[in-house]
Amino acid sequence: MHRLRSGNLLPKITLGRYVDGLIEPIRLDELLSRGRGLVVGVPGAFTPVCTTQHVPDFVRNAATLRASGYDHLICVAPNDPFTLEAWRTIVDPKGQLMFLSDGNWELSRALAVEASHSDLFLSRSTHRYLLTTRDQIVSHLAIEPVVTLLTCTRSTDLPMAA
Ligand code: BEZ
Repeated sequence: MHRLRSGNLLPKITLGRYVDGLIEPIRLDELLSRGRGLVVGVPGAFTPVCTTQHVPDFVRNAATLRASGYDHLICVAPNDPFTLEAWRTIVDPKGQLMFLSDGNWELSRALAVEASHSDLFLSRSTHRYLLTTRDQIVSHLAIEPVVTLLTCTRSTDLPMAA
């Protein structure tokens, strides 16, 4: 499968969502079928840069992002949904973003962002990325060349949606 790029239709992708102690499958392509979508993709829950810098940037700026035209604000990580929910209560206690698990690597494969970071024993991980969509069509995909740096995946690196 080639890497999804700008102009491509988001294919069928199932992610996992934690809801009241249960795990529900959720189709990302259906969720993003209408409106503007923003997906911040992080390599792992509880990792330092994700926890102290990357996700807090999107949580802090969620209202501004919505006002600028993004209808869906989503954080995706390759962790299982239980771990992701435990992390969410720390980084986004008010629920500004929707946290979805890509534990089966479906989105990661479609974007060709799989990584292992075996030096940190992260097991299944990903690169750090930022994806935007409009009516299920990919409009922007940025992938950090170095996983610990934020050079093109911050909220301020986004094309304004409105
Ligand atoms: C971090 O967020 O700090 C991180 C994530 C993956 C690999 C290394 C560091």
